[in-house]
Amino acid sequence: MIGDKAVQLLETIAHLRASLQTHSRDKTVGFVPTMGGLHAGHLSLLHRARQENDIVVASIFVNPLQFAPGEDFDRYPRPFDRDRQLCREAGVDLLFAPSVGEMYPLGNAETARIVPPATMTTGLCGRSRPGHFEGVATAVTKLLQIVRGDRAYFGQKDAQQLAILRRIVTDLNIPVQVVGCAIVREPSGLAYSSRNHYLSETEKQQATVLYRSLTAAETAFTKGDRDVKTLVRCVRDELATVSNLEPDYIELVHPETLMPLDRVDSRGLLAIAARLGSTRLIDNIILRSRRPIIAIDGPAGAGKSTVTRLVARRLGLLHLDSGAMYRAVTWRVLDAKASPKDEAAVKSLLAECHLEMTTNEAGETQVAVNGKDITREIRGPEVTANVSAIAAMGAVREFLVAQQQRFGELGGLVAEGRDIGTQVFPDAEVKIFLTASVGERAKRRQRDLQQQGQDPPSLEVLEAEIARRDELDSTRTLSPLRKAKDAIEIQTDNLTIEEAIDAIISWYRAFSMNNYQ
Ligand code: PAJ
Repeated sequence: MIGDKAVQLLETIAHLRASLQTHSRDKTVGFVPTMGGLHAGHLSLLHRARQENDIVVASIFVNPLQFAPGEDFDRYPRPFDRDRQLCREAGVDLLFAPSVGEMYPLGNAETARIVPPATMTTGLCGRSRPGHFEGVATAVTKLLQIVRGDRAYFGQKDAQQLAILRRIVTDLNIPVQVVGCAIVREPSGLAYSSRNHYLSETEKQQATVLYRSLTAAETAFTKGDRDVKTLVRCVRDELATVSNLEPDYIELVHPETLMPLDRVDSRGLLAIAARLGSTRLIDNIILRSRRPIIAIDGPAGAGKSTVTRLVARRLGLLHLDSGAMYRAVTWRVLDAKASPKDEAAVKSLLAECHLEMTTNEAGETQVAVNGKDITREIRGPEVTANVSAIAAMGAVREFLVAQQQRFGELGGLVAEGRDIGTQVFPDAEVKIFLTASVGERAKRRQRDLQQQGQDPPSLEVLEAEIARRDELDSTRTLSPLRKAKDAIEIQTDNLTIEEAIDAIISWYRAFSMNNYQ
């Protein structure tokens, strides 16, 4: 962050580039493009960018190319002063707000365009908004070239836009990581949108049917309905309960290619658009037929790693042992004779590091890198001596989070950490926050050290150490310790390990009973 001062406003490309040049040397830049009228959905993107980057750039540009004649370009909300204040509160460093003339100096019609693949624009919103995604792709490609950030943040709210932009970034080799962020909803379930301003109070109430209809289909899906016609009918029936709502489309497509599906075998994007009065609203949900994920977070010393391993074994799930994953990368680095301190060398090795984790018949996690089983090797002294240096590298963490999420697509696993339920698997089915008081953790630590034949420090010293570690873990920028809003807290002061495990398993069974019967 540049400093706690008013966000710097830049209206020209030249000024923005000059400012970025002075501020961003050796720093990571996160970019959040918006059209303003900021609400909680935008703010979640800004907060995520703030957490993950040194410098945060936001843009506000109501892009004429993505509005068809007769759409709401002229009356689109432009509360600029309020937006600027919200950016400041969210810790934005640079706010880029170009005029239309700055972005399209030769006129809208004269500018070169980016055309997304037709297969991705003919369905969903593309059908009723021809040219819209071409306009989005053109503006966003320009903005990405202007800002040249490391990461760009987009909401899953506009799922078609996100899929198209991911494809464009890949196909045009734009060197930016696209980060998709979950939909933020009002307590009523209505997804935040700048266009909600157009709704009357009654219409806002009626609009909650959108999310209700999606969750009705999701319930049918979790009960085993896989046929797209049946799932779409679920949505249609629920939408029909609001008479003045006019559905535009209800479609179930592949979340990345956007190709229509007949059945949802692994994942599907269920997306809808509907008109309420003169306002067009969109919403969507991802349906995923995976086995549940149990995410266990909590402070150090609360017994997470033992509990996680044993829960996995009792339920026959994969123990996604993140410690073992860091060890596997360390082994790969040492095996390639690279220096564990050379971040660039480590980064280039990651590109060819294919990590596999499986469970053997005894319920133990087996680790393989590029086809070679290294379950034993990763416990060797050389790996142990180097793993913390490797684990401290941002690139390694990013790589492993992506790997964990890849395992997460199939589900059926238990994972533990500080941010497993908040960052890595925010949609985990069962989230546990395993905790114990500082006093209790100090006692456990003292007992462990005694059992290892060491002379432990006093309880006061251990308590102070643990409190300091808690403070550090909850304030660190990279993967801070946070309890997810929907996590179940299990206080283990008066529980044995077996009792803590039983508690987690009963939550898991309760979830499975409600959703998989
Ligand atoms: P805008 O509608 O302002 O949205 C900016 C970003 O906020 C988009 O990535 C959008 O998906 C995200 N967003 C909006 N509502 C959200 C919600 N309820 N939860 C999570 N994210 C949400 O989308 C655009 O602008 C434009 O098309 C743009 C990408 C800026 C190109 O002009």
